[in-house]
Order: sequence, then C-alpha cells, then structure tokens
Amino acid sequence: MNMGGNASKIVVNDLSCWYGPQNVLQDVSMEIYAHAITGLIGPSGCGKTTFLRTLNRLNDLAPSFRHQGQVLLDGEEIYQPKKDVVMVRRRVGMVFQQPNPFPISIFDNIALGVREQQPGIKKKELLDIVVNSLQRVYLWEEVKGSMQTSAMSLSGGQQQRLCLARVLAVRPEIILLDEPCSSLDPVSTAKIEEMMLRYKNEYTFIVVTHNLGQARRVSDYLGFFLNGRLVEYGQTIDVVVNPRERETEDYLVGNFG
Ligand SMILES: Nc1ncnc2c1ncn2[C@@H]1O[C@H](COP(=O)(O)OP(=O)(O)OP(=O)(O)O)[C@@H](O)[C@H]1O
Ligand SMILES: [Mg+2]
Repeated sequence: MNMGGNASKIVVNDLSCWYGPQNVLQDVSMEIYAHAITGLIGPSGCGKTTFLRTLNRLNDLAPSFRHQGQVLLDGEEIYQPKKDVVMVRRRVGMVFQQPNPFPISIFDNIALGVREQQPGIKKKELLDIVVNSLQRVYLWEEVKGSMQTSAMSLSGGQQQRLCLARVLAVRPEIILLDEPCSSLDPVSTAKIEEMMLRYKNEYTFIVVTHNLGQARRVSDYLGFFLNGRLVEYGQTIDVVVNPRERETEDYLVGNFG
C-alpha cells in the first residue's frame, strides 16, 4: 500500500509483542512514510507506547519483553542479531511524555550529544547547532540570556521543548514522540506542533497522542490501535472523516464528545 506518495521509511511486518505471558501487540503491519507525520491513537493500554518503543529497540530494556515479526528501517531488519543498537537509536530518536532534561546547563543539554557525535567540532559550529536547535522549537528567544543556567529551572513546557531541541540537534532520521504534549501548556503545545509541521521535510515524525485535535492538526497518516491490534490506518483525513471500521468510529465519536 502506498498512501499519498511518500516513500516508506519503516516497514513493520506481522509484529507481535509480549511482556512475559501477556501479549500486548498482535500481528501489526504498518508502513511509516518518510518526511511525514504519523499519528497513533487508541485507548490507554492498547499498546501504543510498546509499538513506538519497538521502532528503536527501547523495549529491549524491559527484561520480560519478547517479539515476533519484522521491523525494517530503510529495508534493514533492526532486530537482526548483529545490528548495532546504539546506531539504531541514533537514527531513531525519541521524546518521552515527561520532559527529562539532564541536570546541567541549557547549553550543555544540547551540546552533550552533538560533541559525542562530532568529537572535534569547532566551538562556533557547536554554538550554531545549539542556537539553531533552540530556534526550531521556538525556545531561543526565551533562553538566549540564560544558556548557562540549569535546565531544571525551566518550566515544564520549556523543558520539553529543550528535550526536543536536544533530539533535533543530533539529526536523527526518525523522531518518536510519546504523548509529548500531554503535560504541557497550550503555548508550548502549539510550538511543538508548529515545529513538526515546519520540519517534517527533514525528519520523519511518529507521534502518539491522546489529543485527537492534535492528531488532526499535525498528522498526515493516522493509525488507530485497540487491544494490541492496528484496527485502522490511513491518511488522517480519511480515518477521521470516513473511518472504515466501526471500532474507529466509536472511538472518534467518544473522544469528540
Ligand atoms: N515494561 C513493561 N513490563 C510489563 N508490562 C508492560 C510494560 N510496558 C507496558 N506493559 C503492559 O503492556 C500493555 C500495553 O501498554 P502500553 O504502555 O504499550 O500502552 P499504551 O497504549 O501506551 O497506554 P497509555 O495510553 O496508557 O500510555 C499494558 O497492559 C501494560 O501494562
Ligand atoms: Mg503509552
């Protein structure tokens, strides 16, 4: 299936996942398109976070996790035995629900990963990347006078934008966002949405959200999960206006009320 003309970046084939005996994803097949924003919705506990975390092998860290099926990134299986997991996570960055800045300066929060990636980077070049990343999340104007201040002194919305800037700065190809705005004020939420829309041509975004308004505003493609199954997936406009499945319709109606 190719919807809307974007090339596929990730192909998931018959993915099933378990934590111990509990099966949380069942035969999920999905193509994620490059340079687009894919939204994932569904009720609590349906497996959205688990799905997202299989795309950069973060679930490997859960001791009881097990999976079957394939996740191909640019055609290469990320679960093949010799795969460099660090490299996978470098290519597939992630922003979590709760902002998690490092307890160091605003500048260093972003500079740390860039220095690690480019050890010999010149000061001026590093500064340019830091400033540019902060500009992309519309945080620069708010922090340009306090770059050496601890990131912990920022508000929650500012911290989340900093975390996003930190990910943007190391230029992953794909950015996973797990309910990135659920604890944020409307202004920071709008700025994060603006960033995704503006820079989707440079990255590929996959965003889990409970906010259907947000899904409609930003996503090009939308997947609806229920009880570990991908019930419906398509162009957002089609899924929202004309869902094929009764379950999707019920969920959408319930949420608009
Ligand atoms: N690390 C883990 N170990 C064991 N079980 C887990 C783990 N993470 C998630 N689960 C279980 O897997 C199921 C799916 O959870 P998941 O977090 O993927 O759902 P979700 O759709 O993201 O929910 P929410 O909208 O509440 O964030 C749940 O029953 C959950 O309890
Ligand atoms: Mg979740």
